[in-house]
Amino acid sequence: MRRTARLALGIMTAGLIAAGGAGIFVYSGAYDISATDQHTPPVYWAMQFMMRRAVAVRADESETPAGLAQAEVVRRGFALYHRNCVQCHGGPGFSPEPAALGMMPVPAYLVPVGREWTAAQIHWVVKNGIKMTAMPAWKHRMSEDDMWEVAAFVKHGLQYLSQAQYREAAANLPAPAARARPSGVEGGVGNAAAGRRAIDQYACATCHVIPGITGATRQVGPPLRGMASRSYIAGVLANTPRNMVRWLMSPQQVSPGSAMPDLGLREQDALDIAAYLATLHGD
Ligand code: HEC
Ligand code: HEC
Repeated sequence: MRRTARLALGIMTAGLIAAGGAGIFVYSGAYDISATDQHTPPVYWAMQFMMRRAVAVRADESETPAGLAQAEVVRRGFALYHRNCVQCHGGPGFSPEPAALGMMPVPAYLVPVGREWTAAQIHWVVKNGIKMTAMPAWKHRMSEDDMWEVAAFVKHGLQYLSQAQYREAAANLPAPAARARPSGVEGGVGNAAAGRRAIDQYACATCHVIPGITGATRQVGPPLRGMASRSYIAGVLANTPRNMVRWLMSPQQVSPGSAMPDLGLREQDALDIAAYLATLHGD
């Protein structure tokens, strides 16, 4: 009995000392967070390994659509790749843009990734992005078909293109169609839980204090606590669910010159975010 108690006390003391040491280390600012300081090899290896396992476990191979290797699918994927990915990952004969070269970790050249990864794994990463790297989630910005097509290109196209072929295909790309602007709000049902996640995907937290959203501590715009109980939105629109969706999708149309930019919200995301904001009553 006495021995177990002493052992427990020992473990607790060691734990406290370790926590205290970690606290002092963090507070001292000794850890170099600069993007010019590469991770140590063990940290780098552990992060890569963890990322690969996390993707392998989550990607559902049975969802892979048939016919991803068809030339037409790969061609559409090329257009998406050249518009959305080459600036960071580069391509045959194309360097990543300057901003991407300064990222840590630097975005990988995707030819070997196309060889080693399955299409479902590439699709998963494109859809969900990778935390603590600059890899964005495209889920709110590309359709499901688009995400499979770009994965099809990385898997079945990229590795077979010479520099000359890539350049020629890039030169022959038609100009991108202008993004369709929502004309009006159709109406629909929002989901507050999905809205809570969508808030992280549209930079709302960089400007608003929002209850329940980690990191939403800035006061560029008004705090959104108690939004559900407010009479007006931005002082100009009656606070109805429909008007909230309208505001979120086109603040610049409702209040030209407002510091809140049009963030390109999709209607479903606006509905979901409005549903979340409707849960924020005054406290
Ligand atoms: C803003 C820069 C940026 C953009 C744009 C971007 N990525 Fe990434 N991507 C990254 C970073 C950073 C990583 C993590 C570092 C790395 O490559 O391992 C990454 C990782 C990946 C990975 C995992 C590969 C690996 O070995 O880690 C894949 C697959 C991927 N991106 C595909 C894409 C595709 C396809 C697109 C276009 C739809 C795209 N990325 C757009 C920055 C970007
Ligand atoms: C660059 C900063 C910025 C970003 C990003 C931003 N907002 Fe705003 N937001 C503002 C400002 C500034 C106002 C005040 C606008 C006005 O009164 O004209 C505002 C107003 C609002 C209002 C009305 C608040 C009130 O008190 O009436 C809501 C709701 C809102 N924003 C939600 C959002 C959501 C949700 C997002 C993400 C989809 C978002 N905002 C992104 C700056 C921002």
